[in-house]
Amino acid sequence: MILVTGGTGLVGAHLLYHLSLENVAIKAIHRKSSNLLAVKNVFKYFSKDYELLFQKIEWVEADITDIISLEEAFKNVTKVYHCAALVSFNSKDYSAMDLINIDGTSNIVNFCIENRVKKLCFVSSIATIEKSVTHKFMSEADEWNMEKVSYGYALTKYGAEIEVWRASQEGVPVVIVNPGIILGAGFWQQGSGAMFSKIDKGFPFYTEGVTGFVSVNDVVKAMLLLMKSDVVNERYILVAENSSFKNIFYQIAENFGKKPPSIKVTKLMSAFGWRLEKLKAIFTNVPETLTKHSAKSIHNKRYYSSEKIAKDLNFNFESIAETIKSICALYKKEHR
Ligand SMILES: NC(=O)c1ccc[n+]([C@@H]2O[C@H](COP(=O)([O-])OP(=O)(O)OC[C@H]3O[C@@H](n4cnc5c(N)ncnc54)[C@H](OP(=O)(O)O)[C@@H]3O)[C@@H](O)[C@H]2O)c1
Repeated sequence: MILVTGGTGLVGAHLLYHLSLENVAIKAIHRKSSNLLAVKNVFKYFSKDYELLFQKIEWVEADITDIISLEEAFKNVTKVYHCAALVSFNSKDYSAMDLINIDGTSNIVNFCIENRVKKLCFVSSIATIEKSVTHKFMSEADEWNMEKVSYGYALTKYGAEIEVWRASQEGVPVVIVNPGIILGAGFWQQGSGAMFSKIDKGFPFYTEGVTGFVSVNDVVKAMLLLMKSDVVNERYILVAENSSFKNIFYQIAENFGKKPPSIKVTKLMSAFGWRLEKLKAIFTNVPETLTKHSAKSIHNKRYYSSEKIAKDLNFNFESIAETIKSICALYKKEHR
């Protein structure tokens, strides 16, 4: 029996779809507030038999911060894909991220140890990969320097990785994936999905900051391959291409037949922007759309190497142009 956490999010939903095509028993946890229809909607993109495939999943209500609820979820489980996390760049969410990302992962790890699961796959992030001063392309070997990192999401994902390494020391074989920004269909109002809906509505801004991008298909493909392989106790960067936000936004706009964003956001503009957003949040109680950290990071130029997975698993990534084209096609089918 396979257990998936975070099955109601972007990665988890796509993973569940791929697992549902295999001859395996699947359990997934969800919270009371989770939107299971959004998961079914992802299945609908790819198969006419989506109802039947969706029914193959046994849904169990559980919160990774609640040990009692996890007892039931872990019954008969032999393999675990741990995708659940709180992703936020707002400093106000730090304690919630600390609880969900670190303590939640610690709970998952404890249950894996107790239940002697055969393998655990954890979805981390490139946020835990350190920028190198000696070479352009960052790899899994670049040591992380806690003192240099000041934002909560990275700290908590790193803390979660430490918990996962603890599982490996206690005899649970583990694999960790470190994806770049994940592009995938569905969940259009949050995460990278919001990029597509905003650009469709004529979002005018871009930056020349560079980071790693990868399709959700490749993230899921890598996770499934790693779990079936003999690879244990390794972590892998998953980045198909290093690209500027400008290039990504232009490609999305082109696929939508929209005017590309034309206003380049300078460092000064974003420094002003996050302060204005903070002020607005104080008066309106509406969370900031631009935080101090994101205002800075959108200008960073970071390059990542996925050579390790390419070598170890003979892994080929789909091009980001292809990824964007297929996501835009699904978006248009749903919204036009
Ligand atoms: N998206 C990216 O660009 C990206 C890039 C690199 C790494 N990652 C990592 O990939 C993983 C999946 O990301 P995603 O984009 O799929 O995230 P997402 O769409 O925000 O989904 C997060 C998932 O975690 C679940 N969750 C959150 N708190 C939970 C709790 N206390 N108990 C149980 N479930 C909880 C959510 O459930 P509800 O539906 O109940 O809220 C949801 O299913 C995360 O670990 C993230 O750090 C994401």
